[in-house]
Amino acid sequence: MFNNAGIMHPMDDNALNTEERIWDLTMDINVKGVWYGCKHAIIAMRKSGGGSIINTASFVALMGAATPQLAYTASKGAVLAMTRELAMVHARENIRFNSLCPGPIRTPLLMDFLNTEEKKQRRLVHVPQGRFGEAIEQAYGALFLASDESSFVTGVDFRVDGGLASAYVTPEGSKFTRLPEAFLEYLDADGIFLPDEGQPQAATIEEIDSDNESTTFSDEEPTEKPEFPEIESMIRQAVEEFDGGVFPKLNWSSPRDAAWITPTQSLMCTTPFDVYLLLKSSDFINHDLHHAFDDCDDKDNTADSTPFHLVLRKWYDLQPSMEFRCFIKANELIGICQRDPNFYQFLVGIKDELEDKIHDFYEDHVKDKFGSDNFVLDVYIPRDRRKVWIVDFNPFSPTTDSLLYTWEELAKFDVQTDEPEFRIYESQAEADAFSRNAPKFAANMLPKDVIDLSDGRSIAEFAEELQRAMASSALGSSDDEQDESS
Ligand SMILES: Nc1ncnc2c1ncn2[C@@H]1O[C@H](COP(=O)(O)OP(=O)(O)OP(=O)(O)O)[C@@H](O)[C@H]1O
Ligand SMILES: [Mg+2]
Repeated sequence: MFNNAGIMHPMDDNALNTEERIWDLTMDINVKGVWYGCKHAIIAMRKSGGGSIINTASFVALMGAATPQLAYTASKGAVLAMTRELAMVHARENIRFNSLCPGPIRTPLLMDFLNTEEKKQRRLVHVPQGRFGEAIEQAYGALFLASDESSFVTGVDFRVDGGLASAYVTPEGSKFTRLPEAFLEYLDADGIFLPDEGQPQAATIEEIDSDNESTTFSDEEPTEKPEFPEIESMIRQAVEEFDGGVFPKLNWSSPRDAAWITPTQSLMCTTPFDVYLLLKSSDFINHDLHHAFDDCDDKDNTADSTPFHLVLRKWYDLQPSMEFRCFIKANELIGICQRDPNFYQFLVGIKDELEDKIHDFYEDHVKDKFGSDNFVLDVYIPRDRRKVWIVDFNPFSPTTDSLLYTWEELAKFDVQTDEPEFRIYESQAEADAFSRNAPKFAANMLPKDVIDLSDGRSIAEFAEELQRAMASSALGSSDDEQDESS
């Protein structure tokens, strides 16, 4: 027996404002209704040899809230007390009684009531799991209490509340999340549907498809709008916690090749919109999703079983000149080089100091602490040069850019006999020569099909047009044909 019906009257208020008729109505439905339900269930269950009765209460019967709804709160407190007593009185008759205490649930009613992001966040900071519950999660709670799986459970206040009623302070917003299959499908799908205020809006470029002669924007409504409230809420929380900006990354790669598409021409994201746009536009992300294990010996075992995560880092304005890549072989630091392919005069003078710093940092903090003997470590040294920061770990393999080295020489390097080096561009001419031989990233940062799509216009023009179109949200879906090659 599931006594689930109840009301929260819109005129339910504080002690001074709540009218007696509202109080009585609420008590009649929420308390007397449950009593009657129990009464008749007990009569039936005595005949059938026992059963389980579940009465819906609420977390507000366990903890106070500063949003007054006096009659409702009192009625739910009564449900808890009544259920406990019933459980004791009928315990030997094989009739179990439990209260179900839902936390805030993402129902249309509550979402209409909490109709701004601010109002939602005001609640979510109190929910340890950082999200609203789903109706189905309550249903599973009731299912458990109704089933014989809970045969030794009676008289409890059964909370399905994301940890709410156990909270003193709640965790900071999470910075990474495992991506559900539906999100991965969304990343793979043609077209770009982007969220706005939590509700994804149609904002689609005609698919980036090299077969298309030109770019067209249609205003058809997409048939399927993606909706990932938990991911969006995580992004918003991270942006707030990180003072306004996050840097997105999948398991291995950041969408560096797509930075051109954003208003800031960078990877700084302030909304779910920014994150989705970058992820969807990036070939590097696509590579993570489909080709990360191509060169691995154990591809068959790992490729399908490795879950994908979205990682959000705090955004820092990094000086490209102070980013360095370190090559580690057999646990020894065998080479360091600058990461940005430009000549920086000032680096020449502080090269030795930087080398010592990075070397000491590696010995003190990284050596023997990373789960592999061969890897590539990216570090950053802020201008004050007091600390070394880890930016990333990469595989010791040609999938990682060897920059001022070649993979051949790194592979041949003999840890016993060869001397480690720190390579920087010592002159403009050297940087120029290097970039002529090995085209720097900027030269090939656009996926070829995007260059085709830009139809001879400059990328800046194209990006501007795309942004204009997206801002007006007048963009529709591409046709739904899947093009596996795009
Ligand atoms: N938190 C951050 N805030 C701002 N910029 C960042 C941040 N983290 C990284 N970057 C910038 O983005 C670049 C790429 O970051 P990262 O090395 O993590 O990505 P990646 O995809 O692994 O790159 P690679 O393919 O070169 O290994 C860095 O060189 C740095 O300039
Ligand atoms: Mg990397």
